[in-house]
Amino acid sequence: MADKKLTEEINKRRTFAIISHPDAGKTTLTEKFLLFGGAINTAGSVKGKANSKYAVSDWMDIEKERGISVTSSVLQFNYDGYCINILDTPGHQDFSEDTYRTLMAADSAVMVIDASKGVEAQTIKLFKVCVMRHIPIFTFINKMDRDARDTFELLDDIETVLGIKTCPMNWPIGSGKEFKGVYDRRTKKLSTFEAISTGGAKKALETEYHIEDEGFKELCGEYLYKQFEEEIELVEGAMDEIDVEAVRKGELSPVFFGSALNTFGIDMFLNYFLEMTTPPLGRESDQGVIDPIEDEFSAFVFKIQANMNKAHRDRIAFMRICSGRFDANKDIYHVRSGRKMKLSQPQQLMAKDRKIVEEAYAGDVIGVFDPDLFSIGDTITLGKKFNYEAIPTFAPEHFCRLVQLNTMKRKQFVKGVTEIAEEGAIQIFQEFTAGMSEIIVGVVGVLQFDVLKYRLENEYGCEVRLEPIPYSFIRWVKDPSTDVTKLKRVNDVKKVKDMKGNPLLLFNSEWAIRNVLENNEGLELVDFRKN
Ligand code: G4P
Repeated sequence: MADKKLTEEINKRRTFAIISHPDAGKTTLTEKFLLFGGAINTAGSVKGKANSKYAVSDWMDIEKERGISVTSSVLQFNYDGYCINILDTPGHQDFSEDTYRTLMAADSAVMVIDASKGVEAQTIKLFKVCVMRHIPIFTFINKMDRDARDTFELLDDIETVLGIKTCPMNWPIGSGKEFKGVYDRRTKKLSTFEAISTGGAKKALETEYHIEDEGFKELCGEYLYKQFEEEIELVEGAMDEIDVEAVRKGELSPVFFGSALNTFGIDMFLNYFLEMTTPPLGRESDQGVIDPIEDEFSAFVFKIQANMNKAHRDRIAFMRICSGRFDANKDIYHVRSGRKMKLSQPQQLMAKDRKIVEEAYAGDVIGVFDPDLFSIGDTITLGKKFNYEAIPTFAPEHFCRLVQLNTMKRKQFVKGVTEIAEEGAIQIFQEFTAGMSEIIVGVVGVLQFDVLKYRLENEYGCEVRLEPIPYSFIRWVKDPSTDVTKLKRVNDVKKVKDMKGNPLLLFNSEWAIRNVLENNEGLELVDFRKN
C-alpha cells in the first residue's frame, strides 16, 4: 500500500501545458500564475523578449527573474494547497517537435486565445495533439481589454475549427474601452474590470455585484445590460451545467474570459481549473495501465536537450515521472537497454545553476545527464519491465536537402546527423532506394535548420549546405508493408524512408495528397507515427 505522504504529494500535483499562438499572451498568463503562486513578486517583470532575437525562449527570461527551482521545461509552484507544474511548450521561432512532445507529458492543457483574433494556426496544430490524447483543455480568451470579436462567434470558432464543445464558465460584458467585467455563471456575480499598469499592484480592486444588485445594471449602462440580458438568456437556455466528466475526457472545454496583462480573471480561472482538472492519472503501458500511486517509481523521457552547458558537450534528458516517488539514492532500470544505474545528478534547473533533486513525485519533471543512453520515449522503472506507450513522431513541415561540403569527413557527418536526429530536433529521411547518399532533413520549426547547421559545424566539424526542396507535406504510409513503388499518380511525389525504414511520401500541396489517395484505393496516409 502506498504511504500517506506519497498519496498526498501525488494528489496535490497538477501538471499542465499552456498552448497558444504567438502573441496571444502565453508568457503574460504564465507570469500571472507565478505571481499568484508567490513565485515572483512583481507583475510585468518578464521583459526583454523584444531584444532577444530568437533561440532564447521566453522561459529563460522568466527564469532569470525568479528565485525558485525550475527547469527550462517546467515551472513548479504552490498555490492553494496544490503543487503546480507548468510545462513550457516552446513557441515563436523555436517552435519545434519538442512543443508537441511536451504535450505528451502534460495531464491537461490551457489554451490561450486572443479575443480579437480567435483560433489561430499554431493553436490548431497543438490542439490536435491534445485531442489525440484526450486530455482536458481549458480555454482562456485573453485581451478582453481590447476590442474583441463577438462572444458567440469566438465560441463558435473553437467548436467548428477545433471540433470540441465549449462551455463558457463566465461571460464578458463589453470589451475594449467598454469592458465592464465578467459574469460568473455559477455564482451569478459580476467581477468588475479595472485596467492596471503591469508593473503596478498585484491586481486591481474588483467589485462584485450579484445579478440582482442595483449596481450591476448601473455599472453596465443600459445598452450593455440589455445585450448581456439577451446573451445570458441564450447561454443559460442552450447550455447545461458544466459536465466535469466530459471536461476530463477532453470532450468539452470550459471557457474563461479575462485579461492577463491586467491580472483580470486569473484567480477565477485558476480556481475553477484546479477544481476540474485531475491529479496525475494512470498511464497506458504495454503491461496495462500504471497507477501513479499504487505502482513504484516509473518515468518516461519526453525531451532531450543538448548543450545546456556551453563549456562541455552534454545532453540532458527530461523525464516525466508517472508513478511513485523518485529517490535519488536508488538505482533505476532503463528498460530498453536493460541497464541498471543511478541517475546522474538528477536536477531541476535554475536560471544559471542546477539544483539537485533528492525526491520528486508522479506529475513532476526532472532532468538528468544523459550518458548517451536515453532516447525520446524511453521508460525508466525501479526494475519492472514495461514500456509506456510510444511518443508519436509528428510530420515535419519544412524540408531541405542536406549537402556535405567536405566529403572527407563522411563519418563525422553521418554520426552528427544521426545523433542530432536521435535527440529528436530534426528528422532525417533517405531516398527510398539509396542509403545515406541523399539526406533530406525535415523540421517542425525552421529555426532547427540553423541549429542543425551550427551544430554540425561546431560540434562535428562538418561544413554543410541546406538546399530547399519543393515539397511541403509529408505523410507516412500507414501500412509500412505497402509497396510504394507500385503506387499510381505519383510523378511529382517523392518517396523516402525514415530512420526506421518506414515509407513516406513527400508532396508539394494538399491537393497532391488528395490526388494520390483518390487514385490508390485502400491507401492510408497519416501525419504522425507511433513507433
Ligand atoms: P506570447 O507569450 O503568447 O507570445 O504572448 P505575450 O504574453 O508575450 O504577449 C504578447 C503581447 O500581448 C505583449 O505585448 C503583452 O503585453 C500583450 N498582452 C498580453 N496579455 C494582454 C492583455 O490581456 N491585454 C492586452 N491589451 N495586451 C496583452 P508586447 O507589446 O508584444 O510586449 P510588451 O512590450 O508589452 O511585453
